[in-house]
Amino acid sequence: MNHELLPVALEALEAARQALPRQSRRVIDTKSSATDPVTAADRALEQAIRATIATHRPTDIFVGEEYGTTGEPSATRWIVDPIDGTVNYSYSIPSYAISIAAEVDGSIDVGLVYDVGHGELFKAVRGQGATCNDVPIRVSQETDLAKALIATGFGYLPQNRRLQARVLGEMIDEIRDIRRFGAAAIDICWTAAGRVDGYFETGLKVWDWAAASLIASEAGATVTTDLPGIGDDPLTVVAGEGLFTTLRSRVSDLYQTLTSEPANDK
Ligand code: IPD
Repeated sequence: MNHELLPVALEALEAARQALPRQSRRVIDTKSSATDPVTAADRALEQAIRATIATHRPTDIFVGEEYGTTGEPSATRWIVDPIDGTVNYSYSIPSYAISIAAEVDGSIDVGLVYDVGHGELFKAVRGQGATCNDVPIRVSQETDLAKALIATGFGYLPQNRRLQARVLGEMIDEIRDIRRFGAAAIDICWTAAGRVDGYFETGLKVWDWAAASLIASEAGATVTTDLPGIGDDPLTVVAGEGLFTTLRSRVSDLYQTLTSEPANDK
């Protein structure tokens, strides 16, 4: 795998990995809601990644979950989630990841998702396939929704979580089963590796999916991140070609039906 930005991405990932053991899992702040935590590690890792990338690429745009967007207008944009799965991290549940993507002229060219707890590095360069610890990965070939194991997640806004739970309530007897692992980047990479057959979620931010979406598409998945979801929150769907259309249609229909029903707020 060759791309001039790949060594920079790998060096930034290494800086974040080195910084992680010195951090505390204690939640020090919250963001969009009281259940959306920030730990010191989220901030320290983003700073480590930013500093490393700035050494090589001082004028690139940088979009990070913790410190927002910086940099001059530029063809290259780095999109980073220093810890995807912060709730898992804060509870010592080993499913959280460092996610680094490099986008050039609007197309994501390099994607790294490092699943810290499982020691797995998912990696992709546009046009060159996707790997997990350097072994090529491929999306599931399942085509039957009734036999599909589907991963999903919940956002942090209470009213949206309620609707997301209702979508699952409608789907649960139409599919093999549901998995909620707690880190969207890992969900998408596990879809890429065929460990689940498909994935959907509303309300993801670009740093949740940027790197993983390239890994999934390079592993043969179809990926959409901008379908109508809840209000302004988009719907992301990822699955192999044979399952994608059925999964996307069913989930989209459910969102449209349930969002048009009168609100039943507690
Ligand atoms: C969250 C995780 C979670 C998903 C949420 C994301 P964060 O990211 O990926 O699995 O359900 O939608 O916001 O906050 O841990 O970086």
